[in-house]
Amino acid sequence: MDGRDEAAAVAAIEGEAGGDADEVTGFAGIIGRHPRMQAIFEVIRRVAPTGVTVLVTGESGTGKELVAQAIHSQSRRHAQRLVPVHCGAIPEELLESEMFGHERGAFTGAVTSRIGRFKLADGGTIFLDEVGDMSTKLQVKLLRVLENGQFESVGGVSTQQADVRVVAATNRNLEEAVAERQFREDLYYRLRVVPIEVPPLRARREDIPLLVAWFLNQLHTAKGLPRFTVSPEAMEVLVAYRWPGNVRELKNLLEQMVVLGPADCVIRPETLPPKLHGRMAGDGATSGWTTPPWDFDGRGIDFYREMESIEDRIIARALDISRGNKKEAARLLQLNRTTLLEKLKRKRESRAIPALAADASRLGPIPLVPEPQAVPVGELLGLAGGQALRA
Ligand SMILES: Nc1ncnc2c1ncn2[C@@H]1O[C@H](COP(=O)(O)OP(=O)(O)OP(=O)(O)O)[C@@H](O)[C@H]1O
Ligand SMILES: [Mg+2]
Repeated sequence: MDGRDEAAAVAAIEGEAGGDADEVTGFAGIIGRHPRMQAIFEVIRRVAPTGVTVLVTGESGTGKELVAQAIHSQSRRHAQRLVPVHCGAIPEELLESEMFGHERGAFTGAVTSRIGRFKLADGGTIFLDEVGDMSTKLQVKLLRVLENGQFESVGGVSTQQADVRVVAATNRNLEEAVAERQFREDLYYRLRVVPIEVPPLRARREDIPLLVAWFLNQLHTAKGLPRFTVSPEAMEVLVAYRWPGNVRELKNLLEQMVVLGPADCVIRPETLPPKLHGRMAGDGATSGWTTPPWDFDGRGIDFYREMESIEDRIIARALDISRGNKKEAARLLQLNRTTLLEKLKRKRESRAIPALAADASRLGPIPLVPEPQAVPVGELLGLAGGQALRA
């Protein structure tokens, strides 16, 4: 999508979400109208061209990576690469080689030499994600690159140089980590030349309708899925929920609704997972299971459709518990992550409207449903005859 298409889509969504079309509602793919988001857009506009180091903080799923991408895309380096490095959950030796490269024979398994991400990002931007998880040994090496752009590869003797702009992100409280001596104070101040704190979604609830409209529109236009709408009552529930997983949780929930949700393509309060209504697991209201409709009633059932719908419900429940984290959902289901992804892809494709998928660039307004009609949850789950199931 080019800038003009994006502006048009945002304007359309803005109109439907009841806002003022003149008001800026997004910036470089980041949707937000709340004053704190507007302030972030202004900081990005100002720092992007400068090349200074930026530290992006905020809870998981708030959009830190999106901010890093915006900084890069709005900078003079945009024609060069934006290279991400995930600093968490990687053993120290591997991360060092990942960042700075290694020479052949530097360690067991290093059968060839390899260029590191700093070199790869030369002239561009490096995005150090989860920088708070980096070991203190690597923190020293990072500080040196930040100071003078110099580093050595693992097992290498010559000093290398790279012209790289650094954007770092973390969901840890680095001040606390500094106080606990887990994070170097000098590096902390070197990274947070310009700090950007992305607020949690619950602190900017007015952005929720805008984000809902944006994601539903994207699922329709970019993935060719049916166009879903949200009843005003369901929107109230979405706006009131705490969103511990922030924008990622909202995005994943909407995708789940569109792929596994009601056939009439309307999201109503009763089609939303129980956790959104403030009910907790274990109170008997969350499992969604009651007596199955297998009395056959003399007519028999559509076996494959029934199995598919059971699978839908099990997957939806696992995604619900994992807050949309597909890796965690796969673990709960004891499935390979790829198996789950394939299942979801297949379900998505079976719902996609081919003509729309082909015309993915077209963007239209998002209608909100004025008068919601109650729909049996059984229907939502695709059960024959709308068999009753409690949500
Ligand atoms: N304001 C926003 N507008 C549109 N999409 C957003 C916004 N914020 C987040 N997203 C989307 O939500 C998802 C999560 O965002 P992102 O990966 O940037 O979060 P994060 O803060 O880096 O999370 P983590 O700490 O878990 O790495 C992405 O798919 C991103 O595109
Ligand atoms: Mg991230």
